Amino acid sequence: MPKHIILDTDPGIDDSLAILLAIASPEIVLDGIISVHGNVSTEQTTKNALSILELAKATHVPVYKGCDLPLVKESLLSPETHGNQGLGYAQLPEPATKPQSAYGSDYLIEEIMSKPGEITLVCVGPLTNIALAIRQEPRIVENVKEVFIMGGAIQQPGNTTAQAEFNTCVDPHAAHIVFHSGMPITLTPLDVTYQCIFTKDDLNRLLKIDSPVTKFIADSTRFYMEFHDEYQGIAGCAINDPLTMALTFMPGICDYQNLVVDVDISSGVGLGNTFADFYNYEKKKPNMKVAMGVRPRVFMELFLERMEKLARGIS
Ligand code: BDR
Ligand code: CA
Repeated sequence: MPKHIILDTDPGIDDSLAILLAIASPEIVLDGIISVHGNVSTEQTTKNALSILELAKATHVPVYKGCDLPLVKESLLSPETHGNQGLGYAQLPEPATKPQSAYGSDYLIEEIMSKPGEITLVCVGPLTNIALAIRQEPRIVENVKEVFIMGGAIQQPGNTTAQAEFNTCVDPHAAHIVFHSGMPITLTPLDVTYQCIFTKDDLNRLLKIDSPVTKFIADSTRFYMEFHDEYQGIAGCAINDPLTMALTFMPGICDYQNLVVDVDISSGVGLGNTFADFYNYEKKKPNMKVAMGVRPRVFMELFLERMEKLARGIS
């Protein structure tokens, strides 16, 4: 039985790759997408989600618009990482399809509560929509099957401040609500995603197939690779969000630890930092399973194979 997935996302270059991976993977069914602010505005992430679905010939997947601002702090977008439109150098046509009329968090609540224990939630942007939904209907905590979150930097430097990862840095207060909600969370922090580098060789392998899908991957990741080179001296780009998606159906890519993880919501240089109490000094029950080890090439092989399969079907 395929898993039923709702994806909360801010496309975003690696978010777009996560959508493509979901479409290309028979182990899962993408029931719906909720957009959120983050890499670009929600107006733009909504458009980008619709455009990617059109590119992948998957317009049957409904898109719901979510929050455009963090819960407490001011907006923080990321044009230097993903480009002004969020998709690097890729230019996709304006989507012909429209988002659904229901609001993102309302849709999430409706789906989880009408299918108790069935929905796998995958969150690869700031957690604003999820925190809002928990406050609107706290019973979603017990009724969601599982939650996969891309976020945090546990023993790894941050990618937004010295120690903070982008998704937790953009809306730390939302992350705080979700982390302490009691939802069954699996976290994919930068500790593992920054070991999963999509290289120029990987891209050249995909470019052997002439398809709008491979063209999109090339045009978007060229920008992303320039960012990684300029800011972090990395040859290639970390494809964080597809790794999180892959763990929903191939958990063996990573090794996990059950940990007590928190996020800093005090004002100051640590805002948005995540940290794990490895020695459990406070004697608390672990609040999530954290991916702390990864087999990068196992993941990359899966990702490349799935992109090849998708690209062959779309010319
Ligand atoms: C996360 O932030 C965004 O830039 C990416 O889309 C990913 O979700 C990585 O820190
Ligand atoms: Ca993202």
